Amino acid sequence: SIHGSIKTEKTLAIIKPDGLLGNYTDDIRRTVVEYGFRIFKEKIVQLDEATVKSFYAEHSSKSFFSSLLKYMTSGPVLVMVLEKDNAIADWRALMGPTDASKAKITHPHSIRAKCGLDMQKNCVHGSDSTESAQREILFFFKELSADVAAEHDEL
Ligand code: PPS
Repeated sequence: SIHGSIKTEKTLAIIKPDGLLGNYTDDIRRTVVEYGFRIFKEKIVQLDEATVKSFYAEHSSKSFFSSLLKYMTSGPVLVMVLEKDNAIADWRALMGPTDASKAKITHPHSIRAKCGLDMQKNCVHGSDSTESAQREILFFFKELSADVAAEHDEL
């Protein structure tokens, strides 16, 4: 980046329906800021089935897909763009493992351990690579296309 060897990254985070319903939003926001992330953008949205299908297209052949659709449309979600050095990997580390029931044992301080329940109700989502971060940020925040393009050019 123009600031030197440390690369400022953006990643997409989602607080899933159970996270909002369980009133974990303020706790998660506080944790995110404590860990040095800047909440660059955020919005609450009620996803419809077509949107979830498109967002999770890579999982369309999985046995759990219909269940995932039902869950992700069951109530509003909070979508956030988080920014910090190494944001993609750091947010995934802070979330903990996908299976929240296992996270409770292996990563008790992770967000999923504290706010999640199982593989599906795991409270939060995070982009898993630079490519998916770009896709997912633009998926929800088309107005950031210039920012995303500029960041990509610096890689
Ligand atoms: S995979 O197969 O490794 O790609 O799956 P994984 O990365 O573990 O999970 C992908 C997303 O699907 C959700 N998921 C499930 N939902 C419902 N039921 C079951 N059994 C299930 N397994 C995985 C999981 O929460 C992941 O969601 P995101 O939002 O990507 O974290």
